[in-house]
Amino acid sequence: MLTKKKLIEMLNSQGIEQLSLFEEARKQRYLHFKNNVVVRGVIEITNLCRVNCDYCPMRKDNTKRNSIYILSSEEIINASRHIKDFGINIVFLQGGEIPQTTKVVADAIPRIKELFNGYVEILLCLGDKSKAEYKYLRDLGADSYILKHETSDARLHYKLRHKSFKDRLRCIENLLELGYKVGTGTIVGLPDQSLESIADDILLAKELGMHMVSASPFISAPETPLENCTYGSINTTLNAIALMRLVTPDYLIPSVSALEVSGKDGQLKGLEAGANVLTINFSSAARQHDYLIYGTNRFIVKNTHVAAILSKAGLLQSQSTFAKRKPLIDQQNC
Ligand code: 5AD
Ligand code: SF4
Repeated sequence: MLTKKKLIEMLNSQGIEQLSLFEEARKQRYLHFKNNVVVRGVIEITNLCRVNCDYCPMRKDNTKRNSIYILSSEEIINASRHIKDFGINIVFLQGGEIPQTTKVVADAIPRIKELFNGYVEILLCLGDKSKAEYKYLRDLGADSYILKHETSDARLHYKLRHKSFKDRLRCIENLLELGYKVGTGTIVGLPDQSLESIADDILLAKELGMHMVSASPFISAPETPLENCTYGSINTTLNAIALMRLVTPDYLIPSVSALEVSGKDGQLKGLEAGANVLTINFSSAARQHDYLIYGTNRFIVKNTHVAAILSKAGLLQSQSTFAKRKPLIDQQNC
């Protein structure tokens, strides 16, 4: 059992100690997932957001200067077709937190299910919503939801997001109660964040009984109140990924695109630290430019990049572990 004290110590791993931490994480990944890496296709459905996170260029206060968009259900279906053509069966709909996404996504979900003949995971990342809205989307066929707690240090959470950590946790609990596969996650290296609170983040995901967890390095994005702060450490982020793998070995853990913003081969290093999910971007070129997460220097993940790092890491592209095959009722009735 990894105690909190041990986690804090290991978040600082370097050199040989770090190599053996990563090796153990890869061993655990192999035990649960063999060499398979789950590949998702993301569509960024809106860059509007009512929240004002100090680290994010899509924050509410930037709305007037950003060129804003909300995709229509039709545009979502068209992008989903491209995802299907690449042999990917996870359609990941991500966007800022605005009430309008409920309707757009509700219209799209049944059509995406039909497009994939039922064998698809619909993964949402649309922020806090009421339990009734989560239920509505779940009843329509949404399978999974990512709602990162960002930091479990309630004081820091409020300081940087201007929202209560308790409310965020309530949303996560609602999602779990409704039967979603749920992912949470932490930003590593936020100003004023302690290693102790990152250790708490790692333990919290296990305590809550989630299915996915992530660690992303803090990027000091331009045009935000934190633009002059120091970037989060890639090493600490990689150590957090490996420790997540040890604490919650059967969770899906992504190697996120933010790892590529501040260093070379960042996502490959994430895989080497025990991650097992990659996400390819299927937003149109114009929308990618307007979706300002991490600012204009964000790294857009293409299928060629994913193929290259999977081959370097000796891993294989695989489909959703959550999508269920449609029962073959028609055949039985023949
Ligand atoms: N640095 C790191 N992660 C960020 N996010 C947003 N802005 C930043 C940043 N500057 C992450 C948040 C959010 C996800 C969509 O992007 O964790 O949940
Ligand atoms: Fe909105 Fe998410 Fe950006 Fe916060 S991180 S401002 S919730 S898009």
